[in-house]
Amino acid sequence: MWKPDRQSKQPLFQQIADDLERRISYGEFPPGSLLPSERKLAEQLGVNRSTVIMAFAELRSLGIIESQIGSGTRVSKYKWGVTPKHTPNWHRYAEGGSFLPNVPFLRRIREALGQRPSLIDFASGELAANLSPIDEITTLMNENQYTAYLGYDNPQGYVPLRQTLVSYLRQYRGIQTTESSILITSGSQQSLYLITQCLLSPGDAVAIEDPSYCYSLPMFQSAGLQLFRLPVDCKGIRPDDIRSLYKKHRIKMVFINPNFQNPTGTVLDSERRIQLLNVASELGLPIVEDDPFSLTAYDGTPPLPLKSMDPIGSILYIGSFSKIAASGLRIGWMIAPHSVVERLADARQQMDFGLSVFPQQVAGQFLKSPFFDPHLERLRMQLLFKRDVLIEALQRELPGLVEFTVPQGGLHLWCKLVPEIHDGKLLEEAIRRGVVFVPGSVYGSDSGFVRFTFARPDTEEIVSGISKFAEALRSIIN
Ligand SMILES: Cc1ncc(COP(=O)(O)O)c(C=O)c1O
Repeated sequence: MWKPDRQSKQPLFQQIADDLERRISYGEFPPGSLLPSERKLAEQLGVNRSTVIMAFAELRSLGIIESQIGSGTRVSKYKWGVTPKHTPNWHRYAEGGSFLPNVPFLRRIREALGQRPSLIDFASGELAANLSPIDEITTLMNENQYTAYLGYDNPQGYVPLRQTLVSYLRQYRGIQTTESSILITSGSQQSLYLITQCLLSPGDAVAIEDPSYCYSLPMFQSAGLQLFRLPVDCKGIRPDDIRSLYKKHRIKMVFINPNFQNPTGTVLDSERRIQLLNVASELGLPIVEDDPFSLTAYDGTPPLPLKSMDPIGSILYIGSFSKIAASGLRIGWMIAPHSVVERLADARQQMDFGLSVFPQQVAGQFLKSPFFDPHLERLRMQLLFKRDVLIEALQRELPGLVEFTVPQGGLHLWCKLVPEIHDGKLLEEAIRRGVVFVPGSVYGSDSGFVRFTFARPDTEEIVSGISKFAEALRSIIN
């Protein structure tokens, strides 16, 4: 008799549901016939009854079987009977398409947070609600008119926001640009997506930092790209590594996050920046500079972007509203040569006709308002305070068991755990105790690294979260 394969990646309940569906369609169980009971089937297949219950629920949701209290589970008459009504097999469809599913650890974290909103969240890479300028934005929304036009807007982005960004980029990032070189996107994430989908082709080789936020994005694999690693040390990536990768693999593009890198918090060294620009111009190689964190520099002097020192146009620059104000508005921007902006705006037209006008109006108003500077100042102070609370808690709870470099900006602390540990086990123990974090392997590192985001939990949660994390770690070491 058929038995589910315990080594398979497909869950047991799904294998059982598929097998029953096959047996029903081959006529082993005709329409209206009674299926074996959950208990009997569980015995036959050597699984828990709860697994069979899940398999039945799956078939019930597809309309293949029906259960009635007291009279067991039967094959649906309508499904396979005279009436040719067939529910599509949604599972098969859901496995189709070109998007790969998210990294399993990230799906597990999202599931845990969904089931237990009280979990202390060191995993979500975003600001706490009280670090976002909610009152300021509410005031601006009350003071300004937002509904001049409600038709489709330019897919390149709302012109007044692009004009505001021209001044913002000059003043805060030292970048000279024009509104025709700016594309507004739904966060930096969409800029990365558009670049991988529209400027690169399946099979192209690209270089990304190691570790890197990009490893957490199956987007690169979904686009069929070959990924090569640029190890990050305390001064960022080494430009010579790009030259070697180019020689060996003819890499087509380099993705870096040079300011307060996610996850390590590293800032690319100023000499290496110059070398990197030289390598890029020597090889005619585009560099994607992903720069969401720079304005969080705790001392108020953000590192200048590569884009501000890029005379020949090697840099595609990506910015975002998410880490400095509000991730939920989904506002990001890309600065690129006009031909590239046009191509990407044309793709936006096909995808979604561009971003909704409202968040673009709100973000533009805020960036040019007198609220922006004081907000940034408060954000930097609060992040610095939270960083210190986290570091103190780690030193108190886990002396000698964690190593880290103290970041000077950004939302994350990257820690190496001194004993060898298994990422998955630690995450499960931590979730059991009420805290989540992101295992370092999500970012491409070996087991034994952890990323703590300190921008999201409040200071009390940081303290109790680290004490729960320490218990989880000790339970594995001992
Ligand atoms: C380095 C980096 N780039 C891009 C993103 C995407 O952010 P968003 O789409 O919200 O701008 C993130 C989010 O965590 C990030 O850390």
